[in-house]
Amino acid sequence: MSGEAEFRVRVAETETVADGIRRLRLVPLGRAALPLFSGGAHTVLTMQDEDRVLRNPYSLMGSPFDPSSYQISVLRTRDSRGGSIFVHDKLKEGSELSITAPVNLFPIDRRARRHLLIAGGIGITPFMAMMEQLEREELPFELHYGMRSKSGGAYWSALRDTYGRRINTYFDDAQQKIPLTRLLENQPLGTHLYVCGPAAMIDWVLCEAREAGWPEENVHFERFSAPPAGAPFTIELAKTGRTIDVKPTQSILEAIEAAGLTVPFLCRGGACGQCETHVVSCTGAIEHNDHFLTEAEKASGGKIMICVSRLKSAGSRILLDL
Ligand SMILES: Cc1cc2nc3c(=O)[nH]c(=O)nc-3n(C[C@H](O)[C@H](O)[C@H](O)COP(=O)(O)OP(=O)(O)OC[C@H]3O[C@@H](n4cnc5c(N)ncnc54)[C@H](O)[C@@H]3O)c2cc1C
Ligand code: FES
Repeated sequence: MSGEAEFRVRVAETETVADGIRRLRLVPLGRAALPLFSGGAHTVLTMQDEDRVLRNPYSLMGSPFDPSSYQISVLRTRDSRGGSIFVHDKLKEGSELSITAPVNLFPIDRRARRHLLIAGGIGITPFMAMMEQLEREELPFELHYGMRSKSGGAYWSALRDTYGRRINTYFDDAQQKIPLTRLLENQPLGTHLYVCGPAAMIDWVLCEAREAGWPEENVHFERFSAPPAGAPFTIELAKTGRTIDVKPTQSILEAIEAAGLTVPFLCRGGACGQCETHVVSCTGAIEHNDHFLTEAEKASGGKIMICVSRLKSAGSRILLDL
């Protein structure tokens, strides 16, 4: 199994909070409270869509101090493989589903003297809980939040009401851009930088921070985007002797789960290292989509993160130490 505890929850409330963004409030079933979490944590939802099981991670954006419910906000993605569409179209008030215990791969760094938060679009979600925690702990922070438009951005107005001048908003359709160079240059020593948003935005922030000389340990990011679909290929499992076909829109992890087997995972986004698997042999090139293995490890071909990485060419085979 995932190695993580799972809980049954019921959808208690749904709300459209911006164009294409739906908020869900989840309450526990069969227990009084859900585990407490820290700002930046996520949970993995298991969604039974007829004969398909979809498992997607979502950041917990509600209060970390309220164990009576969890809240998530989900953007309906245009080329969805099913998960975000399921959340939007099939989950209703009263729906029941399983979620994993919270895991935090994007926590507040306690060494920081100040916290500079940069969000783009749906990347605001982990910061919602983080800011609540920073406020409660009286830690200094400021948020710079870029959105496509006022109607396309979630929570910006409520955040301004709650946190005042610490919230800075930028709307693409008003030709407003986060003044990143200036922001990165004018921070007191000991400031930590956090970024979550579209891949291009994260790359921009990381690149500017590197060029401005920010120490790597002061820079934190979380990527949401799943890699694109690819060619179909076959995996063989050395320990169980099973052979499983991986479809173009499936990850190796999903194909293994669909075959009724369980393997460890935490983030399902190529970041945590939990699903690292040894490659015994392989007939084709591996497309490494993770942010965990080093470039040298990727080049050696000895390991693969099965939640996001796959084989490049149709018909190739890989023997995994599973
Ligand atoms: C830690 C974390 C927190 C997140 N928090 C949020 C949030 O708060 N709000 C939000 O809207 N989104 C969030 N996401 C993104 C979210 O999990 C989904 O990726 C997003 O909703 C789109 O999902 P989808 O199923 O509609 O579409 P897609 O992005 O098209 O599909 C995702 C599916 O593709 C599968 N997949 C992965 N790699 C491959 C591959 N190489 N080949 C084929 N299939 C593959 C995955 O198993 C996953 O089920 C988060 C992601 C992460 C990693
Ligand atoms: S589950 Fe986290 S890297 Fe694969």
